[in-house]
Amino acid sequence: MKRRDFLQAATAQATALTAVGLGGRAAAAHALPRSEPASDRFPDGFIWGAATAAYQVEGAWQADGKGESVWDRFAHTPGRVKNGDTGDVACDSYHRYPEDIALARHLNLRSFRFSIAWTRLQADGRGPLNPKGLDYYKRLTDAMLEAGLRPLPTLYHWDLPQALEDKGGWPNRDTADRLADYAGLVTAALGDRAHDWAIFNEPKTFTQCGYWQGNHAPGRTDPLAFLRATHTVNLAQGAAYRAIKAVRPNLKVGGVIDVGPMVPATSSAADRAAAARWDKICNQWYIVPALTGAYPTGVLTPDRQEALLGWRDGDAERLKADLDFVGMNYYSPWTVADAPEGNGVPGLNAKAEWATIKGVGAAKTDNGWDIYAPGFFDILTRMVRITGTRPIEITENGAAYNMVPDASGEIHDGPRIAYLRSHLHQLRRAIAAGVPVRAYHCWSLMDNFEWAEGYSQRFGLTYVDFAGDRKRTVKDSGRWYAAVAAQNQLV
Ligand code: GCO
Repeated sequence: MKRRDFLQAATAQATALTAVGLGGRAAAAHALPRSEPASDRFPDGFIWGAATAAYQVEGAWQADGKGESVWDRFAHTPGRVKNGDTGDVACDSYHRYPEDIALARHLNLRSFRFSIAWTRLQADGRGPLNPKGLDYYKRLTDAMLEAGLRPLPTLYHWDLPQALEDKGGWPNRDTADRLADYAGLVTAALGDRAHDWAIFNEPKTFTQCGYWQGNHAPGRTDPLAFLRATHTVNLAQGAAYRAIKAVRPNLKVGGVIDVGPMVPATSSAADRAAAARWDKICNQWYIVPALTGAYPTGVLTPDRQEALLGWRDGDAERLKADLDFVGMNYYSPWTVADAPEGNGVPGLNAKAEWATIKGVGAAKTDNGWDIYAPGFFDILTRMVRITGTRPIEITENGAAYNMVPDASGEIHDGPRIAYLRSHLHQLRRAIAAGVPVRAYHCWSLMDNFEWAEGYSQRFGLTYVDFAGDRKRTVKDSGRWYAAVAAQNQLV
């Protein structure tokens, strides 16, 4: 499909959804021409938030009985992270969280997305919860509630206990049971404070980058281990979902996937087919199994699932998780070409470039990612065909711009405002087209440890002085976003 046909198909789908009716909001949208919203005002009750993740902000990597995670090990290994940076101190949020919460309040936010470090609660990934680690998350969530913020925890944002990696990590099926045990214990302990929970953040990224590309922890480069990891993660998602519902049936349990439009490198049938395969292994691989008990067809033939994924009888039921909501992260599109010579993953045969639309010459953020706001509309109107009427939360969207304070101490990051404004406009269009999005979280509340890029890339609405005392200073974009949140519309 050419890009234009793709967009038309997406729009037709969106219109059909509007027609089946998603309540009053959809009825209002139905009267609008071609899914253009009447204004950039968001629906009443829309939730504005910001996101962080444990390893990226907490620091205190050995405090109070915390165990070593794969990211501790990876960052401590010379050559893995730019400039030798580590998350040992990061934003020091473990000690400074009251400031972070005050900051979110100051930005008029209502939702605070964060993640729980597994190794604070189970140092080696098993056994009873560490009371000191638990106490930290109790204090953290209590402080959010006192500030009128909804805590939105993610149970797993990439920091696997190193002890579990030593036993095989995600390619080892047993890791699914470990995650489920942890999920049940944590939600039993904290489910009185937080009602909406995400199990995984971006399974695509930590399986691909961690086990296939090797540029994220644990740094393995084994495409077959990657495939096995994907299956364990999906089994873990089903098992964790059931474990949480067993202890606290009232909790709302979802997952966070990163999504992006797949643009075929040329209009050839082969490249279009490759883009479709890549769409399945990136956008669909961790949501379709949860909702249907089966993998998207056309990548691995069923007879190879046993050999390549370690599929066993009964797995169809184990994969299922009737997620209460779906979190989606959007940053950039992909360009995908056919790779008949293969890419190491049997059956995938695709060569994909992240954040590059060939021939479009898109503007880029400071870390080289393409800025393509219409892709946000495209992918939301596409994903809703899979997720149906389930509520969607945008759990991340944002941009790296590395401005530093000027002589007067101000951080003028106009390009981030432009990025956010254009993406929020596309989000508003998607909502008008009937996509049931109820929340938006900007990545990120503050500058933080950007994985293999260390502290070289700044995604924050707030500047953090990593070289000095880690003081937080709201950027121009933070002030702008605070006005958007207060007025519930683009300004
Ligand atoms: C991600 C992660 C964030 C990143 C952000 C920018 O989901 O990729 O959740 O931790 O920092 O996406 O790369």
